[in-house]
Amino acid sequence: MEKKIDQVRIGIIGLGARAETLLESIFILAERGEVAVTAICDLREERIEKLLGIFEKRNAPRPAIYRNYHELIASPNINVVLVPTSWNSHLRIACEAMRMNKYAGIEVGGAASIEELWQLVHASESTGVSCMMLENCCYGRDELMVMNMVRQGLFGELIYCECGYEHDLGDEIARGWNKNIERGLHNMHRNGDLYPTHGLGPIAKILRINRGNRFLTLSSHATKSRGFSMAMERYAKSPGMVFNEGDVVTTIIHCANGENITLTHSISLPRPYSRNCRVQGTKGIWLENAKGIYVEGSSPRYEEIDVAGNPYLVHKWDKVESFHDKYDHPIWRGYRNNVIGGHDGMDLLVLEAFFDAVRRQTAPPIDIYDCAAWMSVTCLSEQSIAMGGMPVAFPDFTNGKWISRPPEEPSRWSLNEVYEECFIHKR
Ligand SMILES: NC(=O)c1ccc[n+]([C@@H]2O[C@H](COP(=O)([O-])OP(=O)(O)OC[C@H]3O[C@@H](n4cnc5c(N)ncnc54)[C@H](O)[C@@H]3O)[C@@H](O)[C@H]2O)c1
Repeated sequence: MEKKIDQVRIGIIGLGARAETLLESIFILAERGEVAVTAICDLREERIEKLLGIFEKRNAPRPAIYRNYHELIASPNINVVLVPTSWNSHLRIACEAMRMNKYAGIEVGGAASIEELWQLVHASESTGVSCMMLENCCYGRDELMVMNMVRQGLFGELIYCECGYEHDLGDEIARGWNKNIERGLHNMHRNGDLYPTHGLGPIAKILRINRGNRFLTLSSHATKSRGFSMAMERYAKSPGMVFNEGDVVTTIIHCANGENITLTHSISLPRPYSRNCRVQGTKGIWLENAKGIYVEGSSPRYEEIDVAGNPYLVHKWDKVESFHDKYDHPIWRGYRNNVIGGHDGMDLLVLEAFFDAVRRQTAPPIDIYDCAAWMSVTCLSEQSIAMGGMPVAFPDFTNGKWISRPPEEPSRWSLNEVYEECFIHKR
């Protein structure tokens, strides 16, 4: 395999709405001379036309056009592949790219089967090339700050976490139904946690999953399904449609080091967006929905008197923002005053992290073992729900390496440790 890459030449496969938002951030990096998009591919002509229009508007060099992703991957004009296609094709495209010695960046989603995850692991292990999931939420400001605080010991020993994807998409899926968007079909035919990684990715990193810890078992339960049928009736005038996906799917994951994670998937009922994070240890807790952090010994406790006249101490939340100055992850210390790109700046950060690994031809911060463990939650939760909530075992995709993996090369983009020394001369 070629060592170190000077110019990152990107081929994008899948030109839907997500490709458009990724492009916003990629153009910023291209203007800095760090990367270039040299090829694009989709099955749909109208998407190719739309994307070409965006290149034209930006006065960006016109990329080569492909309708067949095998040909794009084989092209000598690209050395890295981005895969924002729909869920069922991410893994096979990534495997093919790695077998052609090209790094793959796959968009988020869950796996259809354990078998396709083993193929991903084997493709990387046999070629030395890697694949990163572009899980932008791992670079969220608060997720990174809490990781930084946990590594500094402020939360004590971790005991319990929660996270999820709670986002009312019922109307959006109903309105787009006739455009044959694959997400709707998954929700119609499957029943499980179909979109685990926005919440679970950062939590898995904080819990050191695949490096000294691992997911052991899960059990999942789904409620009845009403939200999508109601949305289809409202927006698509299609009454009586039946969806398998429960409105709220709850999964409990048990980890080798004794922590539990409760994961929630809820995308069909009216509610404000939340990733529902909670990180709780022997000394502190972060609760996203309370916008609060409590650290024993420094957060406020007030004496109150109960009705029987007895004094007792009440714990009070500190506001999350009050920790930003002191505990922001070094990635965010400079970036917080100049946030750019989609999803509150997280898109730009995750792409920078990925291209850095591509350039150095090293393991990315979210590697194949992370992809496999996180994505397996989808098909394992389907199995558990189908068996009435029976516990299901996670495969060990590392084949035992999680117990004593050699330390990673220090990097500013690491999601395992905070390497202050990597930030001395840079942003
Ligand atoms: N990280 C985030 O914040 C975020 C946000 C939105 C979407 N996503 C993810 O991005 C991905 C894409 O989402 P989207 O909303 O753009 O979906 P979409 O269905 O609108 O677009 C997918 C595109 O891929 C194309 N495609 C599918 N199979 C292909 C193949 N074999 N060859 C070539 N093209 C193919 C389709 O024609 C379509 O144009 C999904 O995995 C989604 O979960 C991530």
